[in-house]
Amino acid sequence: MKGIILAGGKATRLYPVTKGVCKQLLPVYDKPLIYYPLSVLMLAGIKDILIISTPEDREHFQGFFNDGHHLGVNISYAIQPQAQGIAQAFLIGEKFIGKERVALILGDNIFFGDKLGHVLREAISHKHGATVFGYKVSDPCRYGVISFDKNARPKTIIEKPKKSLSDWAVTGLYFYDHHVVDVAKTLKPSARGELEITDINQYYLKKNQLHVLCLSRGFAWLDTGTPDSLLDASIFIRIVEERQGLKIGCIEEVAFRMGFITKKQLKVLARTMNTSYGNYLQRIALNE
Ligand code: G1P
Repeated sequence: MKGIILAGGKATRLYPVTKGVCKQLLPVYDKPLIYYPLSVLMLAGIKDILIISTPEDREHFQGFFNDGHHLGVNISYAIQPQAQGIAQAFLIGEKFIGKERVALILGDNIFFGDKLGHVLREAISHKHGATVFGYKVSDPCRYGVISFDKNARPKTIIEKPKKSLSDWAVTGLYFYDHHVVDVAKTLKPSARGELEITDINQYYLKKNQLHVLCLSRGFAWLDTGTPDSLLDASIFIRIVEERQGLKIGCIEEVAFRMGFITKKQLKVLARTMNTSYGNYLQRIALNE
């Protein structure tokens, strides 16, 4: 299975902060934002990863991750010249996806929960169709919203409805079979001028091939679109990390625990950072 991180866009809601710095490289407490979605793909066992960014930001991501070999993964890069919607990722990534299934995660989405690995494995077990994740929110109209019939089967999925039929938002993590590229090719831009991911999900829903996994109340799905939500995310991560002494979204740790790199390689990575982050990696390598 392939994985795509969509890290395009200008993040105008964070101006002036993001005028000169890419949003996905902003810190969320002790690490760049993009570490969180990258760690989710790695936790799903995905080793072939494409990062899609603006032309200007590509070199910054490349500077961070190179080809990914130090994490035991293959990272490649592609450009989204203009932000024309999430579904554009499948047109840009057509060659990369080929005939494989693909997971797409938005570069600014943070997921946390002790059952995350389990939920990801369940999504991967669906060989055909699409799998999306529902998350109960207090402000559903800001998102794609999914409603269910009385047998808890998905009934409708609507992008930013004026009046919501349910409290279940669709998160920014999606799994598809390889047909998604052909589906994306049939899309027309929406009223806001974007190729909507919700239109792709509607296609699969109509075909009765949309699986919805609802994340239970123990999960955190955090937004980072505004100065407040970005700060809230940092505080949340700091509180949980300090309390438990365990890091969230730590890509080097995930690489080690997933068996992508050895203990020796983890120690080498730890030594490159003379910070509490580096000390943490050292500790993980020594304790395991
Ligand atoms: C996008 C999707 C929406 C989804 C959301 C998750 O919204 O269009 O369906 O619920 O991401 O973050 P946007 O970021 O374009 O407002």
